[in-house]
Amino acid sequence: MKQILLIITGSIAAYKSLELIRFLRKENVRVRVILTPGGAEFITPLSCATLTEEPVYSDLFSLTEETEMGHIRLAREADLVVVAPATADIIAKVAEGRADDLASTTLLTTTRPIVIAPAMNVEMWNNQATQSNVKLLKQRGVEFIGPEEGELACGEWGRGKVTEPSAISAFIIDKLFGDRPLKGFKALVTAGPTQELIDPVRFISNPSSGKQGYAIAEALLQKGAEVTLISGPTNETPPEGAHLNLVQTAEEMWKATESVLPVDLAICTAAVSDYRPDHPSSQKIKKKNEASSLTMIPTVDILASLSNHKKRPRLLIGFAAETENIVENAKTKLIKCDWVIANDVSKGIFRSNENEVYLITPKANEHWPRMTKKEVAIKLVEHIIKELK
Ligand SMILES: Cc1cc2nc3c(=O)[nH]c(=O)nc-3n(C[C@H](O)[C@H](O)[C@H](O)COP(=O)(O)O)c2cc1C
Repeated sequence: MKQILLIITGSIAAYKSLELIRFLRKENVRVRVILTPGGAEFITPLSCATLTEEPVYSDLFSLTEETEMGHIRLAREADLVVVAPATADIIAKVAEGRADDLASTTLLTTTRPIVIAPAMNVEMWNNQATQSNVKLLKQRGVEFIGPEEGELACGEWGRGKVTEPSAISAFIIDKLFGDRPLKGFKALVTAGPTQELIDPVRFISNPSSGKQGYAIAEALLQKGAEVTLISGPTNETPPEGAHLNLVQTAEEMWKATESVLPVDLAICTAAVSDYRPDHPSSQKIKKKNEASSLTMIPTVDILASLSNHKKRPRLLIGFAAETENIVENAKTKLIKCDWVIANDVSKGIFRSNENEVYLITPKANEHWPRMTKKEVAIKLVEHIIKELK
């Protein structure tokens, strides 16, 4: 999980940083806050702690804060240090290399990129001292966002207004995650096996681990998509930020997929059972010393139901687990979806971290040699981005 260190200083605009925290948390960014004593005159540590779900730091010489976290760790563990709002005072301290409180000491310690969002009266901003400090910091690689022109808290008009939290958040997200071409796209991923009950203690299933589907969900999230992961029983840890919906049977998985429509793309990696016992017993079936048979009926075809749905995903991708005539068999699935990813599960693929697949589309047929399931996921997401853009 990406994390930032947010330093909130003593500006009237400090309250806007509470909204900034909310924007960043929504994007799944961990936020740790240093609130200067000046900042704490405007907002409370409790507000910051509640929104970040983290302790808030403010005192360089605090025994508890220093032993629990320490200013060096605070600086090191962040991917990015953001000062928002930044007073003229903190800008001057960073430019001079001062270290007389927790905020300035941490800023002098950090080797991470620093982003500063200034907020001050127009005369403070225009002052030569501030301007030369800003120039010096820019030369040293510190990035500035704002300040903007507008009506200031003091009632004057001019440059000095802090940039809106949504814009600061977008700037930070861009720096943390780089390119997020799937931002705004909704994706549905099914993963893992299903279990079809015979009685309350027995079921029919398959050895699917869910690894491939979980890796695809993660790769989509990294490119900015909003992902719903509908999963049968697995031992995998779901990727941070996915909306997780855990199901057991094919019927439950089908209902769960229908409930998240409309989506822009659906990737059905789950190894859904094709059949289920027609009448699962509500009580445990007793052992008898005679042959027993089970009547099986087909389960719902989730891919076909998505394909025929009036809210059909723009891009529908099915996985085909085959043991013979991989490509020929998989091609028959193209009537139900746009692309098929076929693999030969007789090659010990099921619980492995690796996969060897064919990407089959109406136009092309690509063989992807053995690689990790995470690599397959990243490669597939690259293809998806090209298709959707
Ligand atoms: C009501 C009030 C509002 C202030 N707003 C700002 C401001 O927007 N920008 C600024 O640079 N200083 C502002 N200051 C002055 C800073 O709070 C002061 O320079 C303080 O020492 C900053 O400490 P810090 O940078 O450690 O938080 C304000 C002071 C007061 C009393």
